Amino acid sequence: MADFISGFWNAYVMGLVGLSLLFCLFVLMSNNKRETGPVELHGHVWDENLAEYNNPLPRWWLYLFWITLIFAVVYLVMYPGFGNTKGVLGWSAVGQYETEMRKAEERYAPIFAKYQGMEVAAVAADDEARGAGKRLFVTYCAQCHGADARGAKGFPNLTDRVWNWGGEAETIKTTITGGRMGMMPPFGPVLGPEGVKDVVSYVRSLSGLAHDSLRAQRGAELFQQNCVACHGPEAKGTQAMGAPNLTDGDWLYGSTEAVMTETVQNGRTNRMPGFGEFLGEAKVHLLASYVYGLSNQPAAK
Ligand code: HEC
Ligand code: HEC
Repeated sequence: MADFISGFWNAYVMGLVGLSLLFCLFVLMSNNKRETGPVELHGHVWDENLAEYNNPLPRWWLYLFWITLIFAVVYLVMYPGFGNTKGVLGWSAVGQYETEMRKAEERYAPIFAKYQGMEVAAVAADDEARGAGKRLFVTYCAQCHGADARGAKGFPNLTDRVWNWGGEAETIKTTITGGRMGMMPPFGPVLGPEGVKDVVSYVRSLSGLAHDSLRAQRGAELFQQNCVACHGPEAKGTQAMGAPNLTDGDWLYGSTEAVMTETVQNGRTNRMPGFGEFLGEAKVHLLASYVYGLSNQPAAK
């Protein structure tokens, strides 16, 4: 309501609400007659023989109407609803949300703070922390990585030991705090369709996938010329650039020839959003510990 740019709409809404209430009042008053004299037929007849008497409305039924009318007025005085008046209670949805958030913050802040002072590996080994971490993960991360953190096409599995950016505690924390942008440039225009097929055959040969060995030989040379800057001379990847290891048999996008051709031909841009500002350091620490614990056996307590 407070978002109206001119006072006109506010007055319009108030007018409509006021008129509706007055109209209800008028209808109620005009039907508020007590029995006087004998009941008479109204003169209306439906379906040939259904006639209407002018009996007064039942009292209890009228009272219900009065109650709803009084309720409406009391409600509009106490709560926002009459144009952009705030209501005498000062209640607002935003206010209620903020109060509840503040309460939750007060309740959980000390718990988060306790874990923030502990090493990632120790937090990962703590049952209570794992529970809290999982709840945060399901709330903020599951829509992309899955509730079980096993990922999907284009969204990395966080439970294995394969890391594009690195699986050390600090690196995981950096990933969650600042986000990551995986950029594989398109090579279609550089290599042409034959060149792309050759280099894909070479990449497939590295993890023992079916490939054409003649093409793979030619592809090995193309790989050294075009791909080692990011994926490294042995194709084992460069975590500083988020360039994956192409020899480990683990694929972010899938292992079929068609998918790999698409990757090399058109490139890939893949973004992990940063959560540092949104969640704050303490929650990021807990999440990093949870993710770390998924692929590292928790140390004995
Ligand atoms: C909008 C989708 C999305 C959400 C939400 C999301 N992520 Fe990601 N995440 C990605 C993508 C995409 C990547 C891969 C980026 C790339 O290709 O380099 C990624 C990568 C990662 C990595 C690095 C994996 C590696 O191999 O190095 C970690 C760790 C991670 N996410 C943790 C989280 C956590 C924890 C959360 C919740 C706070 C989260 N992500 C929420 C999309 C998301
Ligand atoms: C500028 C750095 C860069 C260069 C050069 C580069 N890549 Fe990549 N490549 C990446 C990155 C980063 C990713 C991960 C993309 C993502 O996170 O979605 C990737 C992903 C891939 C994938 C998909 C891996 C998977 O797990 O599904 C293949 C296949 C691949 N690259 C092959 C190649 C080949 C072949 C070349 C040379 C023709 C090449 N790349 C050159 C950075 C590079």
